[in-house]
Amino acid sequence: MPYINVLGHGTFEVEEGKKLVLALEDQGIHILHRCGGQAKCTTCRVEILAGNYCDLTVIEKEAFQTKGIEGVIEDNLRLSCQIRITEDLTVRPILTAESSGLDAGPRPTE
Ligand code: FES
Repeated sequence: MPYINVLGHGTFEVEEGKKLVLALEDQGIHILHRCGGQAKCTTCRVEILAGNYCDLTVIEKEAFQTKGIEGVIEDNLRLSCQIRITEDLTVRPILTAESSGLDAGPRPTE
């Protein structure tokens, strides 16, 4: 099974095919997912630090454009609700309940 290394939180094993947002949540990392995994809010975004996960999907490009978030490709940003884990990955969550003071939002579907 793949491993995820989360900056500041350590490394853990993840069931292959699991959504990154849920893997983080289930490890007690309270990343925001304010739209419930609908690729609308962009609050679940992460910085990809290592791993073959840098290709944005069309739906992610649209979400970042709609929210006016720039530098997405240069900063290796992805939406964790749109990533399924297939191989090892190192990430940095951008917004958490702790860092933002916001409720994380409804749990995305499996
Ligand atoms: S874009 Fe809203 S949870 Fe991923």
